[in-house]
Amino acid sequence: MNSIAIDGPAGAGKSSIAKALSKKLGYIYIDTGAMYRAVALFFLDNNVEDGNDAKAEELLEKLDISIKYENGIQKVFLNGDDVTDKLRLEQIGKFASKFSAIGSVREKLVALQRKLAEKENVVMDGRDIGTVVLPKANLKIYLSASSKIRAKRRYLELLEKGFKDLDINIIEDEIIKRDEADMNREISPLKQAEDAYYLDSSEMSIDEVVSKILTMVKEEK
Ligand code: DC
Repeated sequence: MNSIAIDGPAGAGKSSIAKALSKKLGYIYIDTGAMYRAVALFFLDNNVEDGNDAKAEELLEKLDISIKYENGIQKVFLNGDDVTDKLRLEQIGKFASKFSAIGSVREKLVALQRKLAEKENVVMDGRDIGTVVLPKANLKIYLSASSKIRAKRRYLELLEKGFKDLDINIIEDEIIKRDEADMNREISPLKQAEDAYYLDSSEMSIDEVVSKILTMVKEEK
């Protein structure tokens, strides 16, 4: 099976690019951030806000996350319920980052991610795909952009989804804090794999980044 790993900080354009790329290549797109967001939703629904809470480990036993595809779009199921539309809020992203530092959460999700990549050709995006989940990926990209640009993109994405009363400065502040937490956690921190290509998408459109990666895919063959 072939795999493309795309890692990078929040709002770098990973999901839009991975989605477009998977379409062009006929691969499955796997959004691993959505899985961590579903874990956050589950913990919050069960009144756990702190990863050190003893209840967290206990709850994890009852957590079942699965992925299905409808018209090529990834749907995330939490204990049988489709929670896809509840995952994009920045608040959920913040808690996803917090709970993603728990070793047993990562073990559970990494196993699911590897299983999916065993069966299909995939474009997978996240924070630890090139370093931990798929260390033998055929191509690894580390995608970044300035925090200002990333905040603007997140702002527009949320606006388009109908969210109101958004403050771009607060979004940027939250993005910076989340990156710091993701880069400095003990287990599987966000970092560029040694064999990953670094791409800065600040001045590039999605189409430009996608064509660049497609050229790299051809060169790898
Ligand atoms: O990509 P995203 O914003 O949906 O991810 C939400 C959080 O989940 C992110 O801040 C850190 C965590 N995450 C992770 O630790 N490992 C991944 N492979 C993907 C996401």
